[in-house]
Amino acid sequence: MMDLHTFCRGCPMCEVHVHFEGTLEDNQAELIASRNDIKLTRPRILDMRPGFQYSSLQDFLDPYYEACSVLLYENDFRDVAYEFLKKQSAGNVRHTDMFFDPQAHISRTNPRTGRKITFGTVIRGIRKGIKDANRDFGVTCNLVMCILRHLTEKDALECFAQAVPYLKWITALGLDSGERGNPPRKFKRVFALARACGLPVRAHAGEEGPAAYIWQTLKVLKGTIIDHGVACVDDEALMVYLRDNQIPLTMCSLSSLRLRVINTLAQYPVGRLLLFGLLVTLNSDDPAYFGGYLKDVLIATAEAQNLTIHDIYKLARNSWLASYCTDAQKSAGIADLDDFYKLALTPALTAVA
Ligand code: HPA
Ligand code: ZN
Repeated sequence: MMDLHTFCRGCPMCEVHVHFEGTLEDNQAELIASRNDIKLTRPRILDMRPGFQYSSLQDFLDPYYEACSVLLYENDFRDVAYEFLKKQSAGNVRHTDMFFDPQAHISRTNPRTGRKITFGTVIRGIRKGIKDANRDFGVTCNLVMCILRHLTEKDALECFAQAVPYLKWITALGLDSGERGNPPRKFKRVFALARACGLPVRAHAGEEGPAAYIWQTLKVLKGTIIDHGVACVDDEALMVYLRDNQIPLTMCSLSSLRLRVINTLAQYPVGRLLLFGLLVTLNSDDPAYFGGYLKDVLIATAEAQNLTIHDIYKLARNSWLASYCTDAQKSAGIADLDDFYKLALTPALTAVA
């Protein structure tokens, strides 16, 4: 039988919770800063010391949005998306549903031109990176536009209005940023608008916020996916609802560890929720900040929770089911995963090893 590491590294899967802005590595930020003649204000190296933890979600988000200041031109956005998807391909992550935060960019001014960065610059650049990565590596990527919940409803509506000409490039609407004090219902109207435009919707809920925010995402925003959802363990009726309706939970263990939602990886409820029958997935969230890309997250979590190859198979299968892939893409991806799983269980593999 194949060992757990080899299985994690090799299994074909999707990532369904990762932020474009969270894939910006220090060395790439430095490279882009220097070609744009910008001084980087935040050396992030310190954050990457082994065992480093932010004190809260907000403590992480401040330098995170500041790092975006190096991104000015279409090509900058293109390069970040391209380099990330190249890494996804190397890890056999064949499809990604990727969040992006337009409000983190369209609020900024290009210091070299004095002009605001436009929604078009952001999305055309990211799209180009996705197209080039598809051509060069065969990977696919859908875009999920997120609303920043620490800003106002008016800001959200204005951002959505700017997105309207580009809706053909946007697969879904999400909600991210600081959860505390910013309940999903604050954005009821913009989410209703998105649904009226035919977009499926979802929200970060129950990461730092309470189980009530997960209920609001389901019942008020009419979300079909819950991002994080850790707090569902506090509400038995909610766990049953999520299980019976097979609502995907896009969980991010290393992120929750770094943001002190949990103290140890062993405490993270992914194994428990999988056993309970929920459609849980594992993801990296912000790989440049939280110490690992998807397969690193999978291995670290599997080790801490004593997950089996069958558990990893289920998580990978769930990733295809939770994605916005077409039915044909899902069937092909799951068929490849099934073949890989059968190979992994072959006794001859042990003999060869
Ligand atoms: N939570 C909320 N907003 C975010 C996160 C997160 O973990 N990562 C990037 N934006
Ligand atoms: Zn996230």
